[in-house]
Amino acid sequence: MSVTELQKKIEDKSARLAVIGLGYVGLPVACEFARVGFDVLGVDILAERVAKITAGESPIEGDEPGLADLLAEVIGGGKLRATTDYEDLRDRDVILIDVETPVDEDHVPRYGALKAVLKSLGPVLKDGALVIVESTISPGTMDGLVLDDLEASSGKRVNVDFYVGNCPERVMPGKLLANLRTLSRVCGGYTPETAEALVALYGHIVQADLDATDCVTAEIVKTAENAYRDVQIAFANELALVCESVGGDVWKVRELVNKSPGRNVHLPGAGVGGHCIPKDPWLLAHGTEIKAGILNLIPTARGVNDGMPKHILHLLATELSHQGEGVRGKIVLVLGYAYLEDSDDTRNSPSASFVAALEAAGGTARIHDPYVAEYNGDLLAMAEGCDAAVLLVKHSQYRELDLAALRRELNFPVFVDGRGMFSLAQLQAAGLAARVIGVGMGDV
Ligand SMILES: NC(=O)c1ccc[n+]([C@@H]2O[C@H](COP(=O)([O-])OP(=O)(O)OC[C@H]3O[C@@H](n4cnc5c(N)ncnc54)[C@H](O)[C@@H]3O)[C@@H](O)[C@H]2O)c1
Repeated sequence: MSVTELQKKIEDKSARLAVIGLGYVGLPVACEFARVGFDVLGVDILAERVAKITAGESPIEGDEPGLADLLAEVIGGGKLRATTDYEDLRDRDVILIDVETPVDEDHVPRYGALKAVLKSLGPVLKDGALVIVESTISPGTMDGLVLDDLEASSGKRVNVDFYVGNCPERVMPGKLLANLRTLSRVCGGYTPETAEALVALYGHIVQADLDATDCVTAEIVKTAENAYRDVQIAFANELALVCESVGGDVWKVRELVNKSPGRNVHLPGAGVGGHCIPKDPWLLAHGTEIKAGILNLIPTARGVNDGMPKHILHLLATELSHQGEGVRGKIVLVLGYAYLEDSDDTRNSPSASFVAALEAAGGTARIHDPYVAEYNGDLLAMAEGCDAAVLLVKHSQYRELDLAALRRELNFPVFVDGRGMFSLAQLQAAGLAARVIGVGMGDV
């Protein structure tokens, strides 16, 4: 089947789809294509996850508007089926790959999951199928890894027996479905015809621009947009540090700077987490000679953002010192463990880095998070007997926090707001000896 013939099947929705990797990205993607009428097969190696999906239950916790209902609907209607068995892929015309693509401690991409998929997919790949990598990958990975691995495992030739494209996802946990439907997409094809087939496919679910391009452009665009964000956040964080040391208020400064045309200072905070932002800048940088000095800004920004949890510990230590106390031996209530507000996603959680730094300084953490099952509980009950508290995630529930009641439970009235959720005045009015990130007190 030529890619143009395949495009017709995509247009009339007779193409059979598959999504490999049913995580934060793959599951909503599978649900969306099923919702618009495609026959969709979901594949994951986690039997427990597949069983849950098969039962019509979403394995994704946290506030994910519409996803649980949509999943129940498409499973119930027989448009989506989940399996752990790659054999079931034999009749699939379009296969989307949505597995994790992390970096290791040395910032080198770890494509173990992607390579495992390509190895298992090859032997069952249908003639004329289109394989689309939606996972975020380093520039050059389609050409240098995906094609080679798939040709080797399938014994087929690209553009003759199968087709490939790269259409990176732009979703954020908490807005998965809304993002899928409304954010524009970069449709990278190995050939222009393949790119057009991608545009036809995504046109069924996306109400926004679909830009046809080549694979390497798609790879660069995706990693660049997250690296850009990381650099912007690092700038906001440095501005917060400046404000703290000269007695400014970054929240006010930011508001005023952003009145200047073309300025958009981001939000400073206790760190940058999640699956994507901490690693995508490294994916972009991968392959360039960082040591030779070609790249300075991107690695430096990573360093600034990775240093923020330690900075929160520094603020805590400063405030404890005003009470005549040190961090050693203290129990600190940590508010929030997810990397993002109102989400259960704890990947690369800045709170984990804070806890590690706290423990290295001789303190202990008592962690609360309303969305993370392990840390869920009554906040004020958990505060009892703690020496101080730090807020690291802006979960909406914390807005309702009775600050005065919290203060009564703490052994010392010390509170650090690492997200600027409260104003200093609010915290002080509750009797707390408080710090808000980016707000200078003349002593750090
Ligand atoms: N999470 C996000 O907000 C987000 C946003 C945009 C892009 N991305 C990118 O999308 C990709 C997927 O991210 P995610 O957050 O969905 O990851 P995830 O860890 O939530 O999901 C990945 C899924 O793939 C499955 N998997 C791993 N190896 C497999 C294999 N060999 N066969 C079948 N299934 C396998 C895992 O079991 C898991 O369920 C990554 O490249 C990520 O960078 C993520």
